[in-house]
Amino acid sequence: MIILAIESSCDETAAAVSRNGREILSDVVYSQADMHALYGGVVPEIASRQHAEKVSLVAEEALRQAGIGRADIDAVAATCAPGLIGALLVGANFAKACALALGVPFIPVHHIRGHIAACYVADPALEPPFTALVASGGHTVVIDVQDYTRMEVLGASRDDAAGEAFDKIARVLSLPYPGGAALDRLAQGGDPGRYRLPRAGVHGAPFDFSFSGLKTAAVNLVHNTAQKGETVDRAALAAGVCQAVADSIVPRVIEAALHRGRKTVAAAGGVAANSVLRAQLERACRENGLSLCLPPLRLCGDNGSMVAAQAYYEYLAGNIGTSAQNCYATLPASELLTQQV
Ligand code: KG4
Ligand code: ZN
Repeated sequence: MIILAIESSCDETAAAVSRNGREILSDVVYSQADMHALYGGVVPEIASRQHAEKVSLVAEEALRQAGIGRADIDAVAATCAPGLIGALLVGANFAKACALALGVPFIPVHHIRGHIAACYVADPALEPPFTALVASGGHTVVIDVQDYTRMEVLGASRDDAAGEAFDKIARVLSLPYPGGAALDRLAQGGDPGRYRLPRAGVHGAPFDFSFSGLKTAAVNLVHNTAQKGETVDRAALAAGVCQAVADSIVPRVIEAALHRGRKTVAAAGGVAANSVLRAQLERACRENGLSLCLPPLRLCGDNGSMVAAQAYYEYLAGNIGTSAQNCYATLPASELLTQQV
C-alpha cells in the first residue's frame, strides 16, 4: 500500500511516501526555521503562509523522488492534531483535497503517534509493546505502546515541555532559534555541575514531569548574574540544563518500562536529538537490560516519514477520516493517545 503523507504541524513543511508503512520511498522536508529565526521563535501566521506556499512543491518532490505517479497512491495522510491550528489546517486540507481528487481514503494522524512511528522507520524490527518517550517542543510524554494504535499515557509534563524549557533558556543565552539544538552544541565541554538546577519531579505522580521550575531557575540565574555585573558561564549553564532534563526524564522512562514489564524503550521527538539525553538513555537501558530504539536525528524532528508510517497502521485499524475531518491545536493529555484525532 502506497501512502503519501503530509506533516505541517509547526515550522516544517514535510511530505513522504511509504510502502506498507515502514518502507520509506521518499522523505522531503522544507524547514522554515530561517524565516522564524528572524523573530526568535515560530510566528504562527508566517508558518501557515509558508506551508501554503510550499506544500504542493514538497508533495510533488516527494512523488518524484519516490518514482511514483499520482495513480499509484492508495491513500493520503496528514497530521491533524496537535499543533499550530493554521499550520495543521493547510497540510490537512491539502491532503484531503488530494484524497478527494484521487478517489482514495484520507487518513488523519495524531502528531504524537506519528513521532512514535519514527521509531518503526528507524528500526524495522521494532514492534509493540514497548515504552515510548515522546519529547517535542510542546509535549513530554511517557507512553505505554500496547499496539500500533492502542496506547496509554503513563506520565506527562504538568507545565512546560522539555523542548519549551530548552527554547526559553536558549533565548536568554542569546542563542539562535531553534534553541534546543544550539544549546546542545553550546553544552559540549561545559561543566554540568557548576550551577545547581532543579530536577523535574511531581510529588505523588511517579511518571509526571514539571519543567517550569528548571526554566525559571536558569532564566533567573542569567538575569541575576547580569545584574551583579558578572558573566554567566554559558557552556556550563547549557550543560547543566541538558543534564537536569536528562536526569528528570531518564529514570521515569526506565521506571515506566519496568513497571509495565516492557523489554524495549523507544525515544522520539525533537528533544530526543539531545546528546546528553541520548547518552543517558543508552546507559540506563543497558544497565537495566532494556533494548533501546533511538532514531537518527533527522527522524527525531518533524518529518513526513513518521506520518506515512503511522498512517499505514491507522488504516489497518480502520481509522479513516471523513470529508468533515477537522484539526485540533490541543487535546487533553488524558485523551492524547486513547482516541483518534
Ligand atoms: O518534535 P519537534 O521537531 O517539533 C514539535 O513537535 O514540537 O521538536 C522541536 C523541539 C524544539 O523545542 C527544539 O528546540 C528541540 O525539539 N530540539 C532539541 C534538540 N534538537 C531539537 N532540544 C534539545 N537538544 C537538541 N539537540
Ligand atoms: Zn513534533
